Amino acid sequence: MHKTISLFNHKGGVSKTTTTFNLGWMLAEMGHNVVMIDADPQCNLTGLVLDFDSAEDLDEFYKKHPHQNIYDALTPAFEAQPRTIESVDCVRVKSRSRLFLLPGHVNLSEYEVTLGIAQELSGSIQALRNLPGAFHFLISLIAVATKADFVLIDMSPSLGAINENLLMTSDCFLVPTAPDYFSLMAINSLSRILPKWIEWAKKAATLETLKSAAYPFPEPRLKFLGTVIQKYRPRKGQATEGFQSWINAVNEMVSNTLFPTLRKSGVTFDDKMYESAGVRADASYCLAQIPDFNTLIATSQTHKTPVFALKDQMFGHTGTVLQQDRQKRDEFRAIFAAMAEHVASLAKNA
Ligand SMILES: Nc1ncnc2c1ncn2[C@@H]1O[C@H](COP(=O)(O)OP(=O)(O)OP(=O)(O)O)[C@@H](O)[C@H]1O
Ligand SMILES: [Mg+2]
Repeated sequence: MHKTISLFNHKGGVSKTTTTFNLGWMLAEMGHNVVMIDADPQCNLTGLVLDFDSAEDLDEFYKKHPHQNIYDALTPAFEAQPRTIESVDCVRVKSRSRLFLLPGHVNLSEYEVTLGIAQELSGSIQALRNLPGAFHFLISLIAVATKADFVLIDMSPSLGAINENLLMTSDCFLVPTAPDYFSLMAINSLSRILPKWIEWAKKAATLETLKSAAYPFPEPRLKFLGTVIQKYRPRKGQATEGFQSWINAVNEMVSNTLFPTLRKSGVTFDDKMYESAGVRADASYCLAQIPDFNTLIATSQTHKTPVFALKDQMFGHTGTVLQQDRQKRDEFRAIFAAMAEHVASLAKNA
């Protein structure tokens, strides 16, 4: 049975998309079948995988493959069509077997308002009863079709209805974050918002009208995997003092505020499960601390390949520069491999 993992933080630019791609790649390399869902209307993940850099490229893709994206796949529910939601042929990621993508769509945000009304669970719920379970229904079909072990959902930076829905119908979630003031504030605000979302999902799951819908709203099972802190500047293998103090502040906010709130809401694993997956409570459930990719980022972007999977010839260097590139790549490989191990081992309990 597949596990669905959301990468969620309403703060923008904290490496949600980058982590989805890198984690997905690493899990696939480890032998798991992985589907990445681009649920962000910005379509950055789709652009990254398909090597698009303009809206025209995306338009061209939609014309050539009219149903091969999240927006079109959901139209039977959102436009109340008589046909049912069907699975979608996912894109196979070049150079990485076992890794698939459900492309995103710039129009996905059109569904935000109607889904928001449906999720108020008020008088109009009868007419909109097929919407709250629609994303989960589609994702389950795709997971079965690709024999997925893991589904990774790359989310937009927002607190909108689509994110609430995707998160609350996932098996687990991880919170990518960055070592800065705004990320700290974002973790604090998540501690206030998530309990409300969790209560909403519990209530939605009890409603007969949603249970008996064409796309039933599932029983909530969400569990917190941990955080990823990314893009700090290292010096001699350690974060510089300035970055370290933000890393500490983010970790404290997770340990003292976010985690206790999540535990109270019933969305944490048992302590023993974290421990046996190597996710430490005394390290604030941080799955990985990832430095700035620095000089490797350009090569990684050119080759649409994670920094840890770059091949020697991709660097275009020789001698000591190549040695340094290799060393950095291998350091990143160790970090991402450990993170993927933690995630795979913890998520199986969800
Ligand atoms: N470890 C890293 N080192 C250097 N650059 C990075 C690192 N992680 C991410 N980036 C860069 O930071 C930018 C933001 O990352 P990304 O797009 O993954 O964030 P995001 O959270 O998905 O953003 P959004 O909220 O807009 O969806 C990108 O240009 C990405 O290439
Ligand atoms: Mg993104």
